Amino acid sequence: MNAITRRRFAACSAGLISALSLPRIATSAAAQTVSLSDGTVVPALGQGSARLGQGRHPLAEEEQAMSTGLSLGMTLIDTAEIYGDGKAEQLIGRVIKGRREEVFLVSKVWPSHATRAGIQSACSASLARLGTDHLDLYLLHWPDRVKDLAEVVGTFEQLRAGGQIWRWGVSNFGVAELDRLFRIPAGEHCATNQVSYSLADRKVERDVLPWCVQHRMPIMAYSPLGGEGSRVLRNPAVQRIASSQGQSSAAVALAWAMRSGNVIAIPESGSVAHVRENAAALTLRLGLDELRQLDQAFPA
Ligand SMILES: NC(=O)c1ccc[n+]([C@@H]2O[C@H](COP(=O)([O-])OP(=O)(O)OC[C@H]3O[C@@H](n4cnc5c(N)ncnc54)[C@H](OP(=O)(O)O)[C@@H]3O)[C@@H](O)[C@H]2O)c1
Repeated sequence: MNAITRRRFAACSAGLISALSLPRIATSAAAQTVSLSDGTVVPALGQGSARLGQGRHPLAEEEQAMSTGLSLGMTLIDTAEIYGDGKAEQLIGRVIKGRREEVFLVSKVWPSHATRAGIQSACSASLARLGTDHLDLYLLHWPDRVKDLAEVVGTFEQLRAGGQIWRWGVSNFGVAELDRLFRIPAGEHCATNQVSYSLADRKVERDVLPWCVQHRMPIMAYSPLGGEGSRVLRNPAVQRIASSQGQSSAAVALAWAMRSGNVIAIPESGSVAHVRENAAALTLRLGLDELRQLDQAFPA
């Protein structure tokens, strides 16, 4: 990370921490949002779907869970063509039927489809499974094995002009790949970079997060509970803070991931009870002292 980037990130974090330190418990606070570079405001907490529609829970329960999340304000939904080979998109299609206007819908194209014809047909197939005529955001799932990034950007721009997607972005991009992207014509239209970010995985704080702050690009935090098995939730510091706040460990872990105002966390759950716990993070603000305790338990 260069010095300017590091200074900007430090300044941004300092402002953030002092802002966060004011209300210790603020469950009545407004739901936290994130502004995209085009001015669109989205909730800072959405819902993932990587393992939905694949038998982990009864299908009806998973649909009820996502629908509950929508009603509680987690109206950004993340999916991908690869999730259950389209089964997750089909489940979402059923949940959002009649509620499409409430939802900020995100899907992703797999790198093996990252050619002009491949992206066009993958996008049409995702739209059909989701039962919608547009995606609010379409992401390139991984940079690996993409032969021609300029062709991907050109195709995304074409889909945007045609109205099938309203914005585009990337996922799992490191700083070198982001730099490369921004050297491509229209590359700076990239709306977000979706990356792994949780108390248990803070790698992006080193370089990717500061880069995105510098370029005014919010990130989407996947696996914000630590991924399958949600191991973050068993940490004693998280549990202690949760019990002192009268919240769940999941709400604390999510509030931590969302604390900067520049991060959209997308936990996945197929359980109504878990979704209710997660939704509480929308209005939960952690104080300076709690942030320090979490820093000690999970060093950056
Ligand atoms: N771009 C990428 O390459 C990429 C990679 C991975 C993930 N993602 C996206 O990010 C989303 C989330 O990531 P993830 O699924 O890996 O991890 P995660 O959201 O950190 O964890 C999901 C796990 O936590 C459990 N859980 C959820 N809420 C809970 C609660 N309140 N209490 C206890 N357990 C809870 C879930 O089980 P229950 O269902 O039983 O609640 C599930 O096992 C994915 O669905 C996907 O949309 C993107």
